[in-house]
Amino acid sequence: MHTLLILHGPNLNLLGQREPAIYGSQTLDQINASLTRMGDELRVNILARQSNSEGQLIDILHDARTWAAGIVFNPAGYTHTSVALRDAIAAIGLPTVEVHLSNIFKREGFRQKSLIAPVCIGTISGFGAHSYELGLQALVKYLERPGEG
Ligand code: DQA
Repeated sequence: MHTLLILHGPNLNLLGQREPAIYGSQTLDQINASLTRMGDELRVNILARQSNSEGQLIDILHDARTWAAGIVFNPAGYTHTSVALRDAIAAIGLPTVEVHLSNIFKREGFRQKSLIAPVCIGTISGFGAHSYELGLQALVKYLERPGEG
């Protein structure tokens, strides 16, 4: 059975309180709990981590090389700035799905560019907490048939 990493970047620990009109009312714990339930249905193990620090996110990605089959990643604000996170994903070579709660393509100009997207198998953006579930489904499908993603 595959184990998948769900990785949340900076400020996502505040979900539920943080700008709910943009990011919704679900807390990170609620999102992780529903992904764990979905993982049971899809027959994968889910391990969820969050960090506000770029270096720690990189360490988590490096460590995932040894145990994860793939990653669902919301890099949050680092999406738009972090060459180092992009390099980490490229370095570990694990299939990664980028997810965003909001639709980054209809927000401020600086959010419309992702440095992470080119090293991911795909991006899901704009469906609120459901983006994570869609990302998890997409990753599981991809792992079943890697050639078709
Ligand atoms: C986000 C979008 C980013 O632009 C923002 O910095 C976040 C959250 C999202 O999930 O919509 O922190 O990644």
